[in-house]
Amino acid sequence: MHKILANTVFLGKDIHYLTECHSTNDLAAEMVKSGKLAEGSIIYTENQTNGRGQRGNAWWSEPGKNLTFSLILQPHFLIPSEQFQLNVVISLAVLDVLSTYLLDIKVKWPNDIVQNSDGKLGGVLIENTIRHASIEYSIVGIGLNINQREFKFPRTTSMGLLSGQDWDCWEIFKLLVRAIEKRYIELKKGNANTQKKTYLANLFRMEAWHSYHDGVSFEGKITGINPEGKLMILDREGTFKEYGFKEIRFL
Ligand code: BTN
Repeated sequence: MHKILANTVFLGKDIHYLTECHSTNDLAAEMVKSGKLAEGSIIYTENQTNGRGQRGNAWWSEPGKNLTFSLILQPHFLIPSEQFQLNVVISLAVLDVLSTYLLDIKVKWPNDIVQNSDGKLGGVLIENTIRHASIEYSIVGIGLNINQREFKFPRTTSMGLLSGQDWDCWEIFKLLVRAIEKRYIELKKGNANTQKKTYLANLFRMEAWHSYHDGVSFEGKITGINPEGKLMILDREGTFKEYGFKEIRFL
C-alpha cells in the first residue's frame, strides 16, 4: 500500500506501507539499488521479522506495537568524514518529538534514544553509500518502542511504559518525519555547529563520571565528540581519549 504525507516538502511523499517485512533497511537498500526509491521515500512496516540493530545485533519489535521504518536521503553535500552530522540530525529530531511528551529523554552516543533512568526506547541504524568522495545514499532506519510493554532485555522501555498510556504510532510517525525533514533542511543550509551544540546539551552522561570498558574497565567523563563524531572521554589520570563506535562500551 502507498501512503503520502501532507505538510512536508520532500520526505514521506512516497511511503511503502507494508504489513510485514524482513528489515526495512534491507528492503530499502534493495529498492535503492534497483532504482525504485527516490530521496524522501520511506519504507514502513507493522511487523519487522528480521530487524537489524547496530554492532550486528538483532532489533526485536512486537508486531503492531511500535515504529519500524527506514527513509532514504541523498546528502551529496556531506563528505564521508562529515557523516556523523546525519546521526546528529536524526537523534535530535527524535528528541524534538519525544521531549514534547516525556521527561529526561537523552541521546546516548552515537544515536540511541534513552530515558535518563529507565533505559533505551529507540535506536537508529544509518547505512551510507559513498561515491565520488561524497555520500550518495543514506538509509536511515529508526526503531522506536511505542506501545510494547514487555521486553526480553533489561533497561529497555517504551513511550507506553514511561507515560502509562497508549499512543497512536502513525501520529508519532508523522511528527517524526516532519521533525527530521526540518532538521535535515537546516543542516543543508549550514547549521551543523548549532545542531552539534544541541546534541551535546542533550547527550546522556555528558560531563559526568561513569564506568566504561575499552579492553579494560575505567572511570571517565564524556567531554564531547570530535569533528568525525568520535566520543571524547577524560579518564581519572587526566588523559583525553577518543573512541570510534565499536571501541568503547558503556558500563
Ligand atoms: C540499534 O541497534 O539501536 C539500532 C536499531 C535500528 C532498528 C531499526 S527498525 C527499522 C530499521 N530496519 C532495521 O532492520 N533496523 C532499523
